[in-house]
Order: sequence, then structure tokens, then C-alpha cells
Amino acid sequence: MEEWQIYQLEKQEEFVDDLVEFLKIPSMSGQADSFKDVEAAAQWVKDRLIRAGLEHVSILPTAQHPVVFAQYIKDPSLPTVLIYGHFDTQPVDPLDLWDSPPFEPVIKNDRVYARGASDDKGNMLAPILAVESLLKTEGELPINIKFLFEGQEEIGSPDLPDFVAAYKDLLACNFAISADGGQYEEDQPLLLLGLRGICALQIDLEGAKSDLHSGHYGGMVQNPIHALSHLLASMRDDNGKITVDGFYDDVKELTKDERAEIAKVPFDSYKELLNLGLEEFFGESEYSPLERASIRPTLEVNGIWGGFQGEGTKTVLPSEAHAKITCRLVAEQNPDHVIEAIAKHVRKNTLPGVRSSIKILGKGSSAYNMPFDHPGNVAAAEVLKDIYLKTPVHIWAGGSIPICSILLEHLKVYTVNFAFGLSDENIHAPNEFFRLESFRKSQKAYVLYLKNLAKHAGKFSSLGF
Ligand code: BES
Ligand code: MN
Ligand code: MN
Repeated sequence: MEEWQIYQLEKQEEFVDDLVEFLKIPSMSGQADSFKDVEAAAQWVKDRLIRAGLEHVSILPTAQHPVVFAQYIKDPSLPTVLIYGHFDTQPVDPLDLWDSPPFEPVIKNDRVYARGASDDKGNMLAPILAVESLLKTEGELPINIKFLFEGQEEIGSPDLPDFVAAYKDLLACNFAISADGGQYEEDQPLLLLGLRGICALQIDLEGAKSDLHSGHYGGMVQNPIHALSHLLASMRDDNGKITVDGFYDDVKELTKDERAEIAKVPFDSYKELLNLGLEEFFGESEYSPLERASIRPTLEVNGIWGGFQGEGTKTVLPSEAHAKITCRLVAEQNPDHVIEAIAKHVRKNTLPGVRSSIKILGKGSSAYNMPFDHPGNVAAAEVLKDIYLKTPVHIWAGGSIPICSILLEHLKVYTVNFAFGLSDENIHAPNEFFRLESFRKSQKAYVLYLKNLAKHAGKFSSLGF
């Protein structure tokens, strides 16, 4: 066993204690009450990076939540990778469905339960600990490393485009590695060829200036909830195809080879349905369920409200109705164009008797795609194969990590997914957890990946600083 491996073994209890401490910080980036805690998490990450032996560790402000940067430059002629993660979390509601408080981590069955455990604190801590184990035992790293940790991924990284553009030189690298994302299953590794983009909006329908007696006025004036239902129903056909004009304009069909890659995934429909508590899947019948949830765009109503929801009945004709929508984007779809297409559809399909308006929520991000044979992917595949004794599948993720397309646009570099969360770990949901087995595995995997990248160094062009 090598020194760094012994170090990781001996330190494992301390590393888990570190993770527990990190998880106690309620760094929810979307909740104003928690903004101070996002700062506290940044400070925690900074201190941990210093302890690990990194250089130039700094907290850099953005318009909202800070970024933490660190680096270790060994030799400018070696490849430089930028390792990414996020220390903010999603909110915790519904709180009553948690078995233990979300920010009081509990360790049970070799798992740690807490909000942010898998997404992304457990995952992002791993490369820091891997780097530490190398620095403390070998005294150096095999290649140059930069770390970029942000505190606003869960609200769509709105300030990261400007931040990355402003710090282009500081962040310069050959490619990036995301410690946010995951593997397919405990015994099936994966590499991501892309992630979907996202855009979000709210639709507001307004009728009379106040709620009305449904006996006095029913039949005479339009009902905003009926008008909203009509509008939402007009956006999708029964086969799951989105019927908004222009929605599919910049969507590209996958090649046969790409679809064949997805078909290689050991996707167990029966098990999946059982886990979901469903009898059947839904969606465009010409695509497989996995394709529909990764390389096809979606328009989903996330919430809808208006009118009376109390006990019993109330004979009321509501004055307003609202819906929140997010779209997952693929290929070349542009978030602004998609919002514009929906806005047009809303104008065209609003029934007479109500006024409609839309609010754009957040900044939106484009989909991200990368080549199968990117040298960072090739080097990662070798390591994953050694660890899992199985060839990784190459698929697209249905979720979004805005930094991937931001780095591609501003730094012209690709991002390799190298993270170890699994899809059953309740991310964004009650009782989120992270397998400590994955935590240990990821520390080891990161060391092997960095060492393997040094072996592949010739495949990366050298970078000037
Ligand atoms: N880590 C997730 C995305 C993810 C999960 C990618 C699993 C691949 C595998 C990320 O933190 C996330 O939740 N992103 C949000 C972005 C949104 C808030 C802009 C998402 O996809 O909903
Ligand atoms: Mn994440
Ligand atoms: Mn998330």
C-alpha cells in the first residue's frame, strides 16, 4: 500500500468528522436568512484548503455569494486542472418528512444523513482530502491544480458568468473537473457527455380586481384558474411533446452511436418504477425513458396556485391564478429564446376575459456537451475501470450544473464529471444522505485520477501563466 493510501486510512475518522462539521453549516443559497451561513461555509472551505496545504487560498466576492479559490502550481509546463464544487445547498422543506434535523448530521449504516451530504459537500470535500493526502505524504502533486468552489449553484450560478470572465487568467486551465454530479450505481461507473440547461418563469393570470361570488358572477366572467388550465394544457400533447412554437428549433437529434451508448446503460425499468411507486413511464414514445430524461428538452409545471384551498367549499370565482415552470434544455437551445417562445405562446393562448403576464425567474443556462474522447474523459475512464472493474457508461445527465457551459464559453475548456453521488441519495429531498463508502472511494479515485493525468500529460497543450 502506498503512503497516501495509508494516510487516507489513518485519517478517515477525522475526515468524516470534517464532513460532519461542514454539513452543520446551513448554507442554503436561496434563503436570505442563510446568506451568512453561505459565507460561513466559504470560510470553512478556505480554512480546510489551507489545512490541506494549498496555496493562494482566497475568498473572492461576487454580487451575492462568495467563491473560494486555491491553487498548487508545480510546473507551468504540466497540465493544469480546475476542480469545481459547490458549498451551498437546497432548502430543507418539507421539514417534517426528515427523520433527523437536516443540519444535525447523523451517521447510520455507513451513511451520513444531512442536507448537502451528497449534493455537494461530501463530493466536493473528496478532492481536497485527496490533495492533502498527496501533499502530506509525497510533498507534491503530480500536476497543477486549481480549486473553484461556489456558493450559488443551487440558485443557478447567476454571478458566475461575470466572475469567470473577470478572473479568466486566474482560472486558466487545460480542463475542469466537476466534483458535483455522480456515478450510475454502486457498481456501475459513468462518465457524462453533457448536462441539460435550464430556464424558469412564472405565469400570472389576472381576472376581476377581487374574488367574486360565483353565484352572482359565475357564467358571466372568465375564471383565471380555468384560463390557466387551458393555457398549460395547450403547451404539451398527450405523448409528452411540447407544443410551444419554436421550442424544438435548436434541438439536435443524437447520432446512432450516441443513442447506442445510452442503450448500453443497465437501466432496469421494473426496479425504477418500483422505486418511484409508479406503474408506467410517460413521455415521447419514440425515445427511451432514459433518453427522455437526458437528451430531450422538457417543459414542466413545478407549481400552481390560486383560489380557495381551505376546508369545505367556498363559492368563489378567484381573481387570479399562477404557475411556475422550468424547462430543461438540450443541444443549442438558448434559454432566452425558449422563454420568448413561451411568452409568445402565453400571449396567443390566453383566453378572453383575463390578462396574462410572465416573469422570468433567474438567469437560465445553456445545455453542456463534451466529446466522448476528450483526454480528461479517457484518463477518468481508466481510473474508474480500475476501481469498479467495469467500463463506465457514457450518458447525459438530466440535471444541470451551470458552471460547465460557463467555463466552456469563457475559458474555452471542457468539464469532466468526476463525482461519486448516487441517484438514490435523496438530493434536494428529505433525508438526503451520502454513502461513506463513496466518500472513501472518491478520495482514492481523485489521487489515482491526478496521477493518471500526469501520465497523459502529453495530450494536453501546455499553458502559460
Ligand atoms: N448536482 C446537481 C445536478 C446533478 C445531479 C447533475 C446529479 C448530475 C447528477 C446540481 O446541484 C443541481 O441540483 N442543479 C440544479 C440547477 C438549478 C438549480 C439551476 C438542477 O439541476 O435543478
Ligand atoms: Mn450539485
Ligand atoms: Mn443540487
